[in-house]
Amino acid sequence: MLNWNETAVSNATIADATGLGSIDRGGARVSVDEKRMINARADVNQLLPMKYGWAWEKYLAACNNHWMPTEISMQADIALWKSADGLTEDERRMVKRNLGFFAASESLVANNIVLAIYRHLTNPECRQYLLRQSFEEAVHTHTFQYIVESLGLDEGELFNMYREVPSITDKAAWALGHTQSLDDPAFSTGTDAADQIFLKDLVAFYVVFEGMWFYTGFAQILSLGRRGKMAGIAEQYQYILRDESLHLNFGIDVINQIKAENPHLWTSAFQEEIRAMLRQAAELEAAYGRDTMPRGFLGLNAESCERYMHFIANRRCAQLGLEPVFAATENPFPWMSETMDLKKEKNFFETRVIEYQNGGSLSWD
Ligand SMILES: [Fe+2]
Ligand SMILES: [Fe+2]
Repeated sequence: MLNWNETAVSNATIADATGLGSIDRGGARVSVDEKRMINARADVNQLLPMKYGWAWEKYLAACNNHWMPTEISMQADIALWKSADGLTEDERRMVKRNLGFFAASESLVANNIVLAIYRHLTNPECRQYLLRQSFEEAVHTHTFQYIVESLGLDEGELFNMYREVPSITDKAAWALGHTQSLDDPAFSTGTDAADQIFLKDLVAFYVVFEGMWFYTGFAQILSLGRRGKMAGIAEQYQYILRDESLHLNFGIDVINQIKAENPHLWTSAFQEEIRAMLRQAAELEAAYGRDTMPRGFLGLNAESCERYMHFIANRRCAQLGLEPVFAATENPFPWMSETMDLKKEKNFFETRVIEYQNGGSLSWD
């Protein structure tokens, strides 16, 4: 494996990557041609002239999706959670571990954006999106605080699961390994090895964490919601899913744009490394599925979740221009794609649904 600093870093011609360096008083004005995803020569403090319209469009779409967890009533969930026969023991185990997985994961994703990715992504319109995404991750963390408070859950048990439940710890540790590569204060992009390490962190968080692992988590809770159980949490997960599908698509666009600008990074050996990451990630998720659902429920079990992960992993490969990692399989949860379209799901959970558009709330009609 290559070290990020194995070749000399020549940053002399690369503009200050963070935007916090001394001001170049005599410098020329920014030209669009100098803007790059990584290792840009253009000033990162100037949004305009804009180069990547897709990043700006995602920023606007994200702003139109604004929501807060406290707008969703938890009354039905509280009643169900507190009733002796509202949920089976297996369902309770799955709900608690699912919440425990998400509770810390939202913070891990936020920390990776703010402390690892932001610094090295040298494009202002992409940074604009990262700032919006960071806020959304805060809203998601708020959701788990709100759920814990509403249901009277043991906060220590939930927020420590990422350390104390091995199937959750294994996933967090795998992803953190990629953040840690970038955490060295001396790390900087600009060599092939360093740029590939940066790409792997993007894959670990955008494609795996947000684009694979979160999807099993959504399927677990939304399948309960479809049976009329924990409808408040299910509605919150629908909003989180809408945000996360945008995060995933932003990450895919970022990776593909870096590839297009730096085709020499995308070697066949590197493609194999990325495919191996997705395969490992699916295996970690299968272990999590067996741990959270040892017996399974109506329409959902560890085996169907593993097949879902294979289906999703192959889709992510296609989005990145990679060969699939698993044999072709049908989507075992076709209802998940319907659930992602909130407008079609108007009365799905028979709860209040608000969509924000440009500051005004529109009705679902
Ligand atoms: Fe999130
Ligand atoms: Fe996210």
